Amino acid sequence: MAAAVAITIQSTFVLGSTSAVARAICHELARRGCQRFHLVARNGEANQQLAVDLQQRYGAAVTTEPTDLLVDAASDPARRPAVGAFDLYLITAGSLGDAELARSDAGEALRILAANVTGLIPWLTAIATPERLARPGRLWVFSSVAADRGRPSNYHYGAAKAALTTLCEGLLLRCHGKPFAVRIIKAGFMATPMTVGKAPPALCASPESVARDLLRRPDKRGIDYLPWWWSPLMLLIRLLPAPIAAKL
Ligand SMILES: NC(=O)c1ccc[n+]([C@@H]2O[C@H](COP(=O)([O-])OP(=O)(O)OC[C@H]3O[C@@H](n4cnc5c(N)ncnc54)[C@H](OP(=O)(O)O)[C@@H]3O)[C@@H](O)[C@H]2O)c1
Repeated sequence: MAAAVAITIQSTFVLGSTSAVARAICHELARRGCQRFHLVARNGEANQQLAVDLQQRYGAAVTTEPTDLLVDAASDPARRPAVGAFDLYLITAGSLGDAELARSDAGEALRILAANVTGLIPWLTAIATPERLARPGRLWVFSSVAADRGRPSNYHYGAAKAALTTLCEGLLLRCHGKPFAVRIIKAGFMATPMTVGKAPPALCASPESVARDLLRRPDKRGIDYLPWWWSPLMLLIRLLPAPIAAKL
């Protein structure tokens, strides 16, 4: 394997660190010299395993913190979580939920909204302070190609990711001319627990390839389709007439 190119990201805060793609990104960051991680996740055991792995394999300093976005959003929506000072803030938490149930159960629809956008708002608000945005840094947020067009099969998830994308795009533009770079990742299918039995394996990118793609240009800001070919594909999908789009 080729030697990893060293990068200037020395410290990383991850919300949703037990996600398959977050784990791949943490390993790739550590291989390239990132020495400090703060891992925030719902599954404490899996989070601890990742922490030990990063410590033992790369000698990184790792702290962990539990959160359940559904519980936090419901119990105290105005709370201000501590987000410390990190070179990179990575947000990968998200959930497809039960799309079929959400069609008839507003509770499930609202849980999908909470896991993908409203539950993230306290964290995004705590990160995007005027003082932090005035200093060099990065925020990478995982959205989805599902944000680009409502589809019969997952429109609550798509709506949540569309809201997340618009919110982060506003933040991206607020950071124009500032040293703080916002990057919105519109991911296509990835081979992770989220897509098991739901996406054709041939169309699924590996989390490791997505991590490498991201770190090839660590200072990029803007909206990224990953893998890149989802960009022209989604352009076509957005142009499809309704009778064809209804079959997606
Ligand atoms: N896989 C795809 O094809 C795909 C495509 C486009 C976009 N994305 C987006 O990419 C990101 C990473 O997903 P992934 O594919 O790596 O899937 P994943 O492995 O299922 O990861 C999802 C992560 O979100 C966390 N999460 C879900 N609900 C939560 C809650 N209520 N509170 C706290 N954490 C919660 C999960 O925590 P637990 O470990 O505790 O469940 C897990 O860490 C997500 O935002 C997803 O929407 C994925």
